[in-house]
Amino acid sequence: MTQARNKSLAKSLHGRIDRPIVLVGLMGCGKSSVGKVIAPLLGLDFFDSDSEIEGAAGMSIAEIFENYGEAEFRALERRIFERMLDDQPKVIAAGGGAFVQDDTRAVIKAGSVSLWLQAKLDVLVSRTQKRSNRPILAGKDHRAVLRDLMEKRRPAYEKADLRVFSGPESIDKTVRASLDALKGHFLP
Ligand code: S3P
Repeated sequence: MTQARNKSLAKSLHGRIDRPIVLVGLMGCGKSSVGKVIAPLLGLDFFDSDSEIEGAAGMSIAEIFENYGEAEFRALERRIFERMLDDQPKVIAAGGGAFVQDDTRAVIKAGSVSLWLQAKLDVLVSRTQKRSNRPILAGKDHRAVLRDLMEKRRPAYEKADLRVFSGPESIDKTVRASLDALKGHFLP
């Protein structure tokens, strides 16, 4: 039911989206999951900034952190956004820290419509337990790190153009809320 509604909602946006959409928010908020669903519904290609970085560097995010450090990763991340944001409509899931870096956020703000997927700590913790390849969380207490990042990064995420709540329920609900927010933006 929700899926059928999401499909028709997305259809009303076909041809109306004139720039890239960038999903931002903390690790585990659902950027990639939501992006992978809304992109085909909107008839757009989906990109994941982390995968683009890995492709360009020829190594995993964890290896980039380990071999070159976070500062180098952030510089690469900014360059990837400069390359991806070419005015062509598409959906991009941003790595959790991208929108927090002033220079990268400026690139994203200038070249896209940004949408913050805001989630509660419990949701972030439970979703990030499933994957162990995030260097910022590796070997640490996920709850403690995410609680800290939630507070520190909130002012940056609040600068996104749109905000949607990403709850613990099925992804269809967040997809629906995201499409509603995009409709409000592109078809005011
Ligand atoms: C990071 C989030 C990760 C990845 C890197 C750093 C962060 O992306 O870019 O490990 O600083 O929050 P996801 O949010 O897709 O996990």
